[in-house]
Amino acid sequence: MTSKIEIAPLAGALGAEIYGVDLTRSLTNQEFAEIMQAFLDYQVIFFRDQHDLTPEQHKAFASRFGSLNVHPYVAGMAGHPELLEIIKEPEDKLNFGGGWHSDMSFLEVPALGSILYALEVPQYGGDTLFASQSKAYDALSDGMKDMLSGLSAVHSASREYSAKGASAQARSSMQSTQVQEAPEYEHPVVRTHPQTGRKGLYINPAFTLRFSGMTKRESKSLLDFLFDHSRDERFTCRFRWQKGSLAFWDNRCCWHYALNDYPGQRRHMRRATINGDKPY
Ligand code: SIN
Repeated sequence: MTSKIEIAPLAGALGAEIYGVDLTRSLTNQEFAEIMQAFLDYQVIFFRDQHDLTPEQHKAFASRFGSLNVHPYVAGMAGHPELLEIIKEPEDKLNFGGGWHSDMSFLEVPALGSILYALEVPQYGGDTLFASQSKAYDALSDGMKDMLSGLSAVHSASREYSAKGASAQARSSMQSTQVQEAPEYEHPVVRTHPQTGRKGLYINPAFTLRFSGMTKRESKSLLDFLFDHSRDERFTCRFRWQKGSLAFWDNRCCWHYALNDYPGQRRHMRRATINGDKPY
């Protein structure tokens, strides 16, 4: 049986808009299989006009892909601890997610994906950028790939959620815990995607502190090179939100960046995060 789902790619590296599906009702197995395949093929997929999606419907859709994460440092929505209310008020200077990152890489078992729903968007600005880390890996030289193949890196929330970190600083509508000593976990620098088998870089500027067994200073030049390389525009796409839009990205193989270019306006999003597996 075929469904009415249509797929329109958004950019050369990653990203596709999906049409013909209503996420307020439960998906058929056929729809689920097609959405899963599009997610694996495009790394981030977008749905438009999903108006009045309730927290229960949001969680039900996300739960088709795995168990839901409760953020250790940011308070969830009242009655729905698995949902983060990502709000920037007109008076806030900083936004949540305003730097390249992969969600929850600071956990021992990081996130599979995140599903972000737009409740209120600014008149202009507030787009989200995405960058494919498998494309970034593919574009490296064989020599660099060889060198990275045995390396691991240390990830932690300590920088982002410490008193000076962007995510912990005052945003009037979001409660974050300030972390003194967040745990550190090691993940391979080159990760194999558990479903596609593709290799990709698995480090990010927000949560990766250094290479395992090296000092911060020793790690800096190579990390800086890889961070620069990984956000090259060849590997990116950009999504313009509308009220009712929903994005579902794969944290195992892409980064994202919430642009902070709408001063004085309000933006209100809601995110479910799906637990993943231990990187290898
Ligand atoms: C996030 O990093 O999860 C937030 C992305 C966004 O608000 O666009």
